[in-house]
Amino acid sequence: MPTNRQILLAARPEGAPAPEHFRLAETAAPEPREGEVLLQTLWLSLDPYMRGRMSAARSYAKPVEVGGVMEGGTVSKVVASRHKDFSVGDIVLSRAGWQAYAVSDGAGLRKLDPGRAPISTALGVLGMPGMTAYTGLATIGQPKAGETVVVAAATGPVGSTVGQIARLKGCSAVGIAGGADKCRYLIDELGFDAAVDHHAPGLAEKLQAACPRGIDVYFENVGGAVWEAVFPLLNDFARIPVCGLIAHYNDMAPPAGPNLTPQLMRAVLTKRLTIRGFIVRDFAAQAPDFERDVAQWLRAGKIKYREDVVEGLENAPQAFIGLLKGKNFGKLLVRVAKE
Ligand SMILES: NC(=O)c1ccc[n+]([C@@H]2O[C@H](COP(=O)([O-])OP(=O)(O)OC[C@H]3O[C@@H](n4cnc5c(N)ncnc54)[C@H](OP(=O)(O)O)[C@@H]3O)[C@@H](O)[C@H]2O)c1
Repeated sequence: MPTNRQILLAARPEGAPAPEHFRLAETAAPEPREGEVLLQTLWLSLDPYMRGRMSAARSYAKPVEVGGVMEGGTVSKVVASRHKDFSVGDIVLSRAGWQAYAVSDGAGLRKLDPGRAPISTALGVLGMPGMTAYTGLATIGQPKAGETVVVAAATGPVGSTVGQIARLKGCSAVGIAGGADKCRYLIDELGFDAAVDHHAPGLAEKLQAACPRGIDVYFENVGGAVWEAVFPLLNDFARIPVCGLIAHYNDMAPPAGPNLTPQLMRAVLTKRLTIRGFIVRDFAAQAPDFERDVAQWLRAGKIKYREDVVEGLENAPQAFIGLLKGKNFGKLLVRVAKE
């Protein structure tokens, strides 16, 4: 049996995660029993939700135990099979976590066709983040031609898909991203109508200039200063799919300052805003529509995607720490083994 390498949760972070919150362990790879397969991880997806799994605070999913393997989606190869439905060499979408090998009884595995699209896309534009963008925008955002759609973390797998779908629906797409390179990419490569750098001074004024007709759909990925700039620009009947709040994932206490809840609720009432949170699995029934539409748009070159690839499982903690600070540029993936 090969040696397994695993990244374990060593301690729960208070505030931003740091290298000491992770630990690399080596053990013998597990042996599959009857009805099981041994999976070798090829690609590990790093996603913002993993910060939530490191915390014991109540959420929509259970936390990783201290000492447990960090949770995560993977594209894996079947390297030994005692399961009737899987053969050696099959490529599957799995939740094997931050480790080089894992056994599975087949539950939740999905076979991938490497001829259809690069297999790593099953973790990005054709996977959970793409589905999040597609379903949240369609179901809650309900964009109509001629409207203005704003999204932040706009070069990431969720935000970049939201903006490009908004364009395909005839909307004006405005992206907010960290840094000039990311903003240039939004305009030059993805065809956004405008891009605003949230690291540069004057975010509120620049966003207002980029949205001369106000904002009809704000796809909320971040919260924080971006939300404060967006809020006054919301039009009557604006829709706000609340997908993520990454600016707050490391918060340890509520912010100082006045309580703005009455102001928020007044706007909800007078502007008749729709603010609705969602978790992608709420819309699982839309998976066939998502797969059909986004695969077609990809093939037609109507949707583009970008990957940020980190080599080696041992570099996953540092890459994840960077993700929460905007160091990634595109869908963050770890190449754990060569395809
Ligand atoms: N509800 C669901 O089911 C669901 C599913 C998937 C993802 N999500 C959420 O969707 C959001 C985007 O996910 P993703 O996978 O596409 O991530 P991503 O964009 O690849 O990475 C996160 C990005 O957030 C931006 N960011 C970090 N801190 C920020 C801050 N303080 N202010 C503004 N931007 C900040 C950074 O981009 P810049 O450098 O451009 O600032 C960073 O690259 C996250 O909030 C995630 O939790 C929700």
